[in-house]
Amino acid sequence: MNYRHAFHAGNHADVLKHLLLCRLFALLARKEAPYAYLDSHAGVGLYDLTGDQASRTGEWREGIGRLWQEQHVPAALDSYLEVIRAMNPDGVLRHYPGSPELARLQSREQDRLQLNEKHPEDGRLLKENMDADPRVAVHLGEGWHVPRALLPTREKRAVLLIDPPFEKADELERCVTALNEAIGRMRQTIVVVWYPIKDERQLRRFYRDMEKSAAPKLLRAELFVHPADDAQRLNGSGLLISNPPWGLEEELRELLPWLAERLAQSKGSWRLDWLIAE
Ligand SMILES: C[S@@+](CC[C@H](N)C(=O)[O-])C[C@H]1O[C@@H](n2cnc3c(N)ncnc32)[C@H](O)[C@@H]1O
Repeated sequence: MNYRHAFHAGNHADVLKHLLLCRLFALLARKEAPYAYLDSHAGVGLYDLTGDQASRTGEWREGIGRLWQEQHVPAALDSYLEVIRAMNPDGVLRHYPGSPELARLQSREQDRLQLNEKHPEDGRLLKENMDADPRVAVHLGEGWHVPRALLPTREKRAVLLIDPPFEKADELERCVTALNEAIGRMRQTIVVVWYPIKDERQLRRFYRDMEKSAAPKLLRAELFVHPADDAQRLNGSGLLISNPPWGLEEELRELLPWLAERLAQSKGSWRLDWLIAE
């Protein structure tokens, strides 16, 4: 396990994923009923963008760094940016939330968080960072076991983020299995699968397998900062979302073109479509 998310925190892919999570939490809050948030590959939860690891790549400068300087942003970005503003009250961008901290800050008293991180050191930091909140449970187990271990939840609504490091060749396949297991155990689960886009050809089989998955509905949202033709580079990233709440597709249709323009490095673009339509 060599991957350390601190090198990549706040980059364009984190922006897409974290913004999507914030929109999900906002849309779920339209109803009082509680939800459970499950994070199979949670990371440490909090990042210092001036720290050694984030500084070495500087990836965040082309991600959250760009949005931070924007004067006018679409309203759907507000809740995401408000969290980051609150973490950086002096107006200088330094602290950045991971998915666990975003979920913690955007969820309500009645909601519950189950976070999992396998790396021992990162797991310890995650525990430390989440310690004060009684709604949060941190597990240090195998991320791929999360659907089987934690679903169905006692809450009738659940969001599961599957965000592995993609260090190993079989991780796309494992995402398909994890999504199928989650839907098999709790059909209405909102599963969010994040994946990197280098050369698009590498994803054909993944898309085909996902089209045949058990998800009742599956939305695909992708954001490119370069054309997807160089396998050595992170050209963009994608999210597959099962059972997206009503209103999410429309919001993404407004947000993605805006993000593609603001976050483009050589050429920005986006895609939003259904891999499984109802
Ligand atoms: C992309 S990062 C997660 C980022 C986090 N979800 C966020 O958005 O802030 C992937 C994490 O998975 C952890 N990891 C790697 N292999 C794992 C496994 N088999 N089970 C659980 N966690 C694992 C890594 O240590 C790393 O912290």
